[in-house]
Amino acid sequence: RDSRKAAAQLLSWYDRHRRDLPWRAKPGETADPYRVWLSEIMLQQTTVPAVAPYFRSFTERWPTVADLAAAPLDDLLVAWAGLGYYARARNLHKCARVVADGHGGRFPETEAELLALPGVGAYTAAAISAIAFDRKATVVDGNVERVIARIFAVEEPLPAAKTTLRRLAATLTPDGRPGDYAQAMMDLGATVCTPRKPRCMLCPWADLCDARAAGIAEELPRKVAK
Ligand code: ADE
Repeated sequence: RDSRKAAAQLLSWYDRHRRDLPWRAKPGETADPYRVWLSEIMLQQTTVPAVAPYFRSFTERWPTVADLAAAPLDDLLVAWAGLGYYARARNLHKCARVVADGHGGRFPETEAELLALPGVGAYTAAAISAIAFDRKATVVDGNVERVIARIFAVEEPLPAAKTTLRRLAATLTPDGRPGDYAQAMMDLGATVCTPRKPRCMLCPWADLCDARAAGIAEELPRKVAK
């Protein structure tokens, strides 16, 4: 498979169809690591439409990580009400303090340094490194697992297939524009390569998708029966 051509096709599709999301930098704007971090924490286990109003009110009230670090924890917990999983809000506050006090208010750029922050796991570290700093990192969430399982027609069921899917995803990640690429994968999974009734006719990768060729796109990824 020609991974350069694949990345170019996806990035060209993204340039035409990127979603306008409140935390997303507009074309030509520099990403704000604080906004990228905050959105990725909020988006864990919560949908894009549910997160959007919370993201807006948080960033209006606390425009920088230093503002968030200086806020009383209780204010933050009240503002978080409705998003659920309160451990996320507590870690949010802890992480803001570590970045404000321990890193001079600047988020670190590498996945390894980001992983050391409270509440930041492998997925979030890769997302911040790629989206906020345009560093090459492979961002794998459930959407990306589905896209990759279909492109490569991975028949192995989840969760065992996770290791395979991560390795295959890494083979497609380009050196250029890794941040846009990561967001393009998320958009593709959310709007085209959907769990049910994938819109293969609109897909920039239709020509190279093994599952589509085999007529099994909608069946993948397979899952071990619960
Ligand atoms: N889901 C998780 N992170 C996202 C992002 N940055 N954009 C859109 N959907 C997402």
